[in-house]
Amino acid sequence: MRTPFIAGNWKMFKTTKEAVEFASVFRTLYKDTDVKTAICAPFTQLAALKEAFSGSSIKLGAQNMHFEEKGAYTGEISADMLDEIGVDYCIIGHSERRQYFCETDETVNKKLHKCFEHNITPILCVGETLEQRDDGLAEVVVRIQMREDLKTLTAEQVKKLVIAYEPIWAIGTGRTATPQQANEMCGLIRSSIVELYGDEVSEEVLIQYGGSVKPSNATELMNMEEIDGALVGGASLKPEDFIQIIDF
Ligand code: PGA
Repeated sequence: MRTPFIAGNWKMFKTTKEAVEFASVFRTLYKDTDVKTAICAPFTQLAALKEAFSGSSIKLGAQNMHFEEKGAYTGEISADMLDEIGVDYCIIGHSERRQYFCETDETVNKKLHKCFEHNITPILCVGETLEQRDDGLAEVVVRIQMREDLKTLTAEQVKKLVIAYEPIWAIGTGRTATPQQANEMCGLIRSSIVELYGDEVSEEVLIQYGGSVKPSNATELMNMEEIDGALVGGASLKPEDFIQIIDF
């Protein structure tokens, strides 16, 4: 049985002061439930949030990291640095990074390996553009991303992976995939894990849907058989909205 996992992706929003304010309200609303939850915040907010969430089961995530251990990479953050703060998760390969910051399947793959070396659980994002969907290529695109991104990961590593299916056309657009579309693609991701690693591994992988998830559509999405959780952007910025999604 997979435990539902709902993570917030704050992207480039909130100062540290605003993050701490969020955390204090969120903690008053948050009740320990069977749903796992995490906030993936900008780097500069992580240490303050770690402290603000201490003593609770709310986990912490980053939104990116470098694949090298250390070195002359101005402006980058290493897994070791995240590990020191006590970060549990790191989003890897978000479409905004693929689109605007030259992230490729090759760098995504290297980052996944580095996460596992440091016991940081990656939330790997995959998904197609609107053009690819309209051309009937959604399934092919996601299968290729899965094959390339997971290259040379062991079965034990893949079991721990979180994968977020995020159709690019549904991110921040208010246009959510229908529960059926989301379910179908999450099912396709699981079947591609079956092909690559077998049934037993595929049963353990958590697969989230992401793209305009909000309080009004969370229940329907979360009730779909293949969907184990959600990666929530805009609606994770307000504690009152995010808590409603967690309480789906
Ligand atoms: P959204 O973002 O919920 O604002 O569409 C989701 C994401 O990019 O992870």
